[in-house]
Amino acid sequence: MTQAAPIKVGLIGCGGNGRGHLKRMSEIKGVELVGLADPSTNARALAHEAVQQPDLPGFRNHRKLLADTEPDAVVISTPHTLHHQQIIDSLEAGCHVLCEKPLICSTQEARDVIAARDATGLILGIAYQRHIMPPYMYCRQAIASGAIGEVTSVSCWQAQAWWHLTRGTWRVKPELSGGGQLNDSASHLLDAVLWMTQLQPKVVSAFVDKLDTEVDIVSAVTTQCVGGALCNFSVIGNAPPGFGVWEDIVMWGTTGALIIRNIQDVYHLTPGNPEQKVPRREMPKGSDPDTNFIAAIRGTKEIAAPAECGMSVIQLTEAIWCAADIGKAVKVEY
Ligand SMILES: NC(=O)c1ccc[n+]([C@@H]2O[C@H](COP(=O)([O-])OP(=O)(O)OC[C@H]3O[C@@H](n4cnc5c(N)ncnc54)[C@H](O)[C@@H]3O)[C@@H](O)[C@H]2O)c1
Repeated sequence: MTQAAPIKVGLIGCGGNGRGHLKRMSEIKGVELVGLADPSTNARALAHEAVQQPDLPGFRNHRKLLADTEPDAVVISTPHTLHHQQIIDSLEAGCHVLCEKPLICSTQEARDVIAARDATGLILGIAYQRHIMPPYMYCRQAIASGAIGEVTSVSCWQAQAWWHLTRGTWRVKPELSGGGQLNDSASHLLDAVLWMTQLQPKVVSAFVDKLDTEVDIVSAVTTQCVGGALCNFSVIGNAPPGFGVWEDIVMWGTTGALIIRNIQDVYHLTPGNPEQKVPRREMPKGSDPDTNFIAAIRGTKEIAAPAECGMSVIQLTEAIWCAADIGKAVKVEY
């Protein structure tokens, strides 16, 4: 029996999250880690330590990693405004790409990376892990199968001590972050709602409070979608420390509702049967973005979060920033 050639994987960005990807990749059968890139010597050392591979080639620059190790695939986990160029460079070097959220920081950048993906025929996925988490998969399938009828209303919030935790870091520097919590953790919230409901925002009103920073910290957003459904997003970046990330999503339809409570639990409300908690065994089996990415390269799975999801999120995010800036409702540009 012939054995499939190993998939050579490189990591761009060896911070806290990048090291998580590296560790998971190191545990996937048939993956060969070929190198890592990060300008920080300390981050590279921590990455070496995370996988106990001190000889794994390390580079200060991602282009050198691409040229010297010729990976089949890379994972990008760097400050947000760097994603665009790193994605293009990686695709042009012939690599499949799994990029952290947000995929890019403007709709123009989204068009660029999608064009580069299409020109190369390679995979470009986003590490939106909710696409492979059972509660979100369950809700997407339930909505698609008509289990709550037509979606009419969504209300959701995400709370985190984002303002406290990000002080002095690249996350509050727009030239590196591209934005605040909306462009960071709340990117997951916007994506999850759009992906599960398939709603298409049409008009957006928003209030954003930057507190003492240059980026959005607290956001209150209302969108009217094509077909008339209304969605409220609340991003609470100034939650007190000590709670982690909290996230609730309530989706009402013409015949019932679905509630995801704090990322873990799902309640399916039907007439006469309120707050029916969905047992885990009834939810689809989950995975993780790295395992899914490798399976997509092998052709055994679809990429869970394709680049188009990044486009949808940035279209909505840009409309939110614009509506908050001008103090008026704006149309989402497609
Ligand atoms: N999916 C999730 O749940 C999740 C969770 C946390 C972070 N993230 C995402 O992961 C990415 C990284 O976040 P983090 O928390 O690991 O941040 P971090 O600050 O811990 O790490 C960022 C790393 O990027 C490195 N870096 C800076 N410039 C670089 C360059 N030009 N080339 C290569 N590396 C460079 C830094 O030295 C640092 O080591 C972001 O996109 C973030 O939004 C996703």
